[in-house]
Amino acid sequence: MISGTIKSGDWKGEKHVPVIEYEREGNLVRVEVAVGKEIPHPNTPEHHIAWIQLYFHPENGAFPILVGTVEFTNHTDPLTEPRAVFFFRTEKKGKLYALSYCNIHGLWENEVQLE
Ligand SMILES: [Fe+2]
Repeated sequence: MISGTIKSGDWKGEKHVPVIEYEREGNLVRVEVAVGKEIPHPNTPEHHIAWIQLYFHPENGAFPILVGTVEFTNHTDPLTEPRAVFFFRTEKKGKLYALSYCNIHGLWENEVQLE
């Protein structure tokens, strides 16, 4: 199962773990996802974060909904930083999941509760 290959950890000590921060303004939710926020991840053609995905799993929802995917397409100058901001509208609470992909170290995940 691919789920068994997805790694996680404390983002303060593991540079691959996507950091999720959100703000809510009424029904508008702004979510920033960043890889390497505490310890920068390499950003070269040979070793880089290729993409980040954000999912929202509403309470009582059957499955997580894909909010969006951002691909990071340049790893020389200019350096595309592996961070992105997503906006969506909902009144619901639930879980935010982020998934990131390193071309050398694979899939990494994190989650936070959206209140
Ligand atoms: Fe890596």
